[in-house]
Amino acid sequence: MTSTELRQKFLKFFEKKGHKIAPSSSLLPTDPSVLFTTAGMQQFSLYLSGEKDVLKDFGTRYLTTCQKCFRGDDIEEIGDDTHNTFFEMLGNWSIGQDEKGYYFKEEAIKYALEFLVDELGLNENRFYITIFKGTLHHPAETGGAGQDKDIPRDNESEKIWLKQGIPKERIKEFGEEDNLWGPVGETGICGPCSEIHYDRGEEFGCNRKDCGPNCLHCQRFMEIWNLVFMEYDKAQNGKYKSLPQRNVDTGMGFERICSILQKKSSVCETDLFLPIIQEIEKKCSKKYEREKRIFRILADHLRGASFLISEGIVPSNLGREYILRRILRRSIRYAKVLNLTENWYVEPIKKISEIYKGIYPEVKSKETDILAVIQKEEEKFEKTLEKGIKETSSIVAKGDISGRQAFDLYQSYGFPIEMTKEIAKEQGQQVDEKGFKQALKKHQEISRAGKEKKFGGGGQFSPKLHTATHLLHSALRKVLGNKVKQMGSDITLERLRFDFSFDRKLTSKEIKKVEDLVNQKIKENLEVKKQEMPLKQAIKSGALSFFKEKYPEKVSVYSIGDISKEICAGPHIKRTSELGQFKIIKQESSSAGIRRIKAILLY
Ligand code: SER
Repeated sequence: MTSTELRQKFLKFFEKKGHKIAPSSSLLPTDPSVLFTTAGMQQFSLYLSGEKDVLKDFGTRYLTTCQKCFRGDDIEEIGDDTHNTFFEMLGNWSIGQDEKGYYFKEEAIKYALEFLVDELGLNENRFYITIFKGTLHHPAETGGAGQDKDIPRDNESEKIWLKQGIPKERIKEFGEEDNLWGPVGETGICGPCSEIHYDRGEEFGCNRKDCGPNCLHCQRFMEIWNLVFMEYDKAQNGKYKSLPQRNVDTGMGFERICSILQKKSSVCETDLFLPIIQEIEKKCSKKYEREKRIFRILADHLRGASFLISEGIVPSNLGREYILRRILRRSIRYAKVLNLTENWYVEPIKKISEIYKGIYPEVKSKETDILAVIQKEEEKFEKTLEKGIKETSSIVAKGDISGRQAFDLYQSYGFPIEMTKEIAKEQGQQVDEKGFKQALKKHQEISRAGKEKKFGGGGQFSPKLHTATHLLHSALRKVLGNKVKQMGSDITLERLRFDFSFDRKLTSKEIKKVEDLVNQKIKENLEVKKQEMPLKQAIKSGALSFFKEKYPEKVSVYSIGDISKEICAGPHIKRTSELGQFKIIKQESSSAGIRRIKAILLY
């Protein structure tokens, strides 16, 4: 089955079940608090929350779409079998209820099985199901508000799956990180979800005893469809309350289902993707079979960039524009690893617009813009690249490159290990690849743990900005006095937001002083130290703490030189010099007596 046929089949199936086919919305959501459309439900969120009347606007409670999505937080995973930055999501919705009825868990589950098994012919014995095990009480993170979590275990879904013939041993329960979906931003609609994972077979597995859906070690089990039973609203204080209505929101990974139907081991080898790789291969002396990951990264990033540029985004240093810059620069660097020469991207970009012209004609009609933007970014980027190459060469001149050095090159210039290896090889030197991988893994684990702890769902989080938040906090106290107290904090990949008690606007002099102090501390390259101790001792030692009542008995204290000491769950970076340059981009009033600052790091 071709991808085009699959798209049609899905929409027609739900149309037959009384759903109305709605067009995909833009990749740029109207809600400014989120960077991209990352799920099909975003265009319907006001209907799902009950703020808008779905009957009035759509004439039905049942909708189905194929939605363009972009997720910037998986960039480092691209190249594996299951992730893409740009992807499509198939979905069906049942929004709200009235006396005429609506459908909820039972029908959503039945429809999903009917489509996968009867329409697509997938083998049901390969399905593993996850359900929500209920919320647990645990202490809040520093800077987050206390949460009163009391959503029960989803016994109802479990019963329905059993009734549908899925045996108990293939139904697994998970907590909030995996099976409580949403909200998309910090607050809003969310709900327990039940996912269908597809067992791709032992050959994809890690052979561990505990291997199963959501395995941390392998991709044997691929999540294909997420059924969200949206019936809660998460408030600013972290508490969940019931929505006035219950809804179904489902999302199926289009590329993933394509890969199963087309019997490909990766989303990157379907008819949506392989032709792009083949165009790159034509320009290149290296072969896809030997350099799979790099070819996949290039094809993924060119595709993602095409879609972003087709919606008017241009590369820059903030927000969406920054994500675009990041994927473009990453592909330019990887192109060097493959020794691709000038204009290597032209034919692949044309292929992308050809693949999508039937369903997303904007990519074709903006083709000239896309090419022009990439070319311009490439020119701009050459300088940094030269600096990084120089630095690498000077390390190489002294000998082999250690794992740590390779990781630093990756962190500061984004140099992929393959590129560092190439430069080293030219001088007959080696790179400690194992050491690099260890450093990278540690870094990824830390940021993933931090992301999940803090955001539960699909949020984006930067440990660098977290460390910068601590520096900002102490700088504010130094400049404005100790009446400054943290009232809230939020960190994404792009910026930090810091709320603190203070009763007036800061003068531009004060802002400058705070910035200068933070930047001075960054320059001093202070070590960020972590110590574990009992809460009482931490408070006695003068560590700053907030939401006192919610800490566990044993806490971590992070200190930075002698400027900052806070109780905090982390994660943080190791040394302040990793932070680049700190810049306050906005100050505003958050509420009476509380100021809000937004800041970024420039590299
Ligand atoms: N909103 C859910 C998801 O993105 C289901 O559509 O997975």
